[in-house]
Amino acid sequence: MILVTGATGRVGGSVVSQLLDKGVPVRALVRDPQRAALPGGVQVVRGDLADPASLGPALEGVDSVFLVWPTLTADHAAPQTITEIAQRVQRIVYLSSNGVSEDTTDGILGSHATLERLIEDSGVEWTFLRPGGFAANTLAWAEQIRAEGVVRWVYGDARRALVHERDIAAVGVVALTEEGHKGARYTFTGPESITQSEQAQAIGVAIGRPVRFEEITPEDARQGLFAGLPPQLVDDILAAHADMVTRPEPVTDTVQQLTGTPARTFGEWAADHAADFTP
Ligand SMILES: NC(=O)c1ccc[n+]([C@@H]2O[C@H](COP(=O)([O-])OP(=O)(O)OC[C@H]3O[C@@H](n4cnc5c(N)ncnc54)[C@H](OP(=O)(O)O)[C@@H]3O)[C@@H](O)[C@H]2O)c1
Repeated sequence: MILVTGATGRVGGSVVSQLLDKGVPVRALVRDPQRAALPGGVQVVRGDLADPASLGPALEGVDSVFLVWPTLTADHAAPQTITEIAQRVQRIVYLSSNGVSEDTTDGILGSHATLERLIEDSGVEWTFLRPGGFAANTLAWAEQIRAEGVVRWVYGDARRALVHERDIAAVGVVALTEEGHKGARYTFTGPESITQSEQAQAIGVAIGRPVRFEEITPEDARQGLFAGLPPQLVDDILAAHADMVTRPEPVTDTVQQLTGTPARTFGEWAADHAADFTP
């Protein structure tokens, strides 16, 4: 039995369906079973990662866990939650990040470092998935594209190697269901490096309407787009994008090596999500 957390989300949801396709028994940890629309064949059990005491029923008879951590919001509970899980199961496959920081106080990337350390120290068998930027981050453009066919954003020339959630899940399923991945830290990306302007164009192709990228200045982004976000987070987002103009996110072939299938392109991701960008 494999327990999947984040099962109502993008990566966890895809792990659930890929495990079902393989005929593996799956249980989903959800905070609100009434709201969770999961496929038939999945056992749905209520539990909250921020409340370790709530996890008992979900962990009953479980061999392995696919762990998506609600970074920052549940960090206070992390030591106890990881202990609780590690005592009950044999293996954890943890969805971390390729930017995982050495510094555990460093925001979301520090949160991943904290979780990795807790899991390593717990004595459980583990594999860490460290994907680069998710293709799904471009869903932040969906409203602008639906309304006006335009993406007003910073740094159109920033190059990323965005990865499809199904490929992240596929790597996770390999680590959950096959041997030989104990103690591995897999850093991986999509198959190509493409600029943000090219991503907007690819979405246009997927929806059959042109989509224009209109670059705004970092200052305009601070005042408009990112107003209301914590200033440190805005600084980090802007600095990371500026950096990717001159130093594109490197491309790996890890997805192909581990799953036997090339990672999906951004164009394939956009085609899979065309409905999200269509008025
Ligand atoms: N975006 C990127 O570029 C990127 C890159 C590398 C790594 N990551 C990491 O990927 C992870 C997010 O994955 P995703 O995009 O697949 O997630 P997502 O689609 O945002 O879904 C989040 C999931 O977490 C569940 N959840 C939230 N709080 C919870 C709690 N207290 N207890 C139990 N479940 C809880 C939600 O379930 P309910 O709300 O239904 O309960 C939902 O299923 C994060 O850890 C992020 O740091 C992201």
